[in-house]
Amino acid sequence: MHSVHAIALNHHNQLVLLDQRKLPHQADYLILDDYHTIARAITDMVVRGAPAIGITAAYGIAICAARQPNELNNAFTVLAESRPTAVNLFWALKRMQNLADKTPAAQLAQTLMAEAKAIHAEDIQFNKAMGDFGASLITADSTVYTHCNAGALATGGYGTALGVIRSAFAQGKIKQAYAGETRPWLQGARLTAWELMQENIPVKLSCEGASGQLFRKGEVNWVIVGADRITAQGHVANKIGTYNLAVLARHHGVKFMVAAPSSTFDLSLQHGDEIPIEDRPMHEVTSLNGQQIAPQGCEAINPSFDVTPPELIDAIVCEKGIILPPFKQNILALLGD
Ligand code: MRU
Repeated sequence: MHSVHAIALNHHNQLVLLDQRKLPHQADYLILDDYHTIARAITDMVVRGAPAIGITAAYGIAICAARQPNELNNAFTVLAESRPTAVNLFWALKRMQNLADKTPAAQLAQTLMAEAKAIHAEDIQFNKAMGDFGASLITADSTVYTHCNAGALATGGYGTALGVIRSAFAQGKIKQAYAGETRPWLQGARLTAWELMQENIPVKLSCEGASGQLFRKGEVNWVIVGADRITAQGHVANKIGTYNLAVLARHHGVKFMVAAPSSTFDLSLQHGDEIPIEDRPMHEVTSLNGQQIAPQGCEAINPSFDVTPPELIDAIVCEKGIILPPFKQNILALLGD
């Protein structure tokens, strides 16, 4: 079961986005029907999570084709500028562009809407497949730790890392899940804890600094995270703090799994240093819920993602299967074409 719908269309073919900034206390929906506001919704974190961003952008293009066909080229540009790190955004736009290029004008709106719906539906199907692959690596009575939100809210539905946890829980393998709170946007506290609680999956929230102590006590078997971009060599960009967890996990013998669809792989890049890392505004760190918490004028850093190198990863699962080290050879073997 996955009852959360972050992205939907209404009867007028307008985009209905659950405003994730207000969760878990309010379930507000924004109804959007032009590409500028759809791009802004991505930038402003109304919708977030790599696959969900890609799906939203695809709908943005389809809606533009239906309502402002003369602006389609600009829509591709504006949506591509909404966030830089998750490659799913560029993957979805490229897929829509390729189709737009070969579709006669009279059929453009209908064809692009069908394609956006297909991207959305495929993502759910892929999540379920990778959920099963990931769950097959987990043994009975396991405790897992996840970071950020890689669930139904971050995808077309079901989730990548949370998809693995959902599937493993359905198989009776999960004794306990921990969600790292994930400063500064608190996706773990607000979204992951909420999603897991809705399905009665036992979850405890952990402030980020508690992970080392938890791992040291031998209480975690697997760290399971999603990804925003994975290079050909297996360098993984994901929410800031993922790298810290990977280092800690390796030090304490905790296994580390990344779950992501093939649309998250960027085989044009080799090394993680080539991945553009989004820098977000300082106020997201110096304030909490709109309230200043740091001294006035205090500067802050706010990189939104970090890169985990392949040597710290035990398994990457995608809809096509399980990829084990050596990643350079095995990613190419599974996804090379
Ligand atoms: O800044 P966000 O909330 O978009 O970051 C999301 C993440 O880093 C997720 O872990 C990643 O996109 C995988 S989602 C299935």
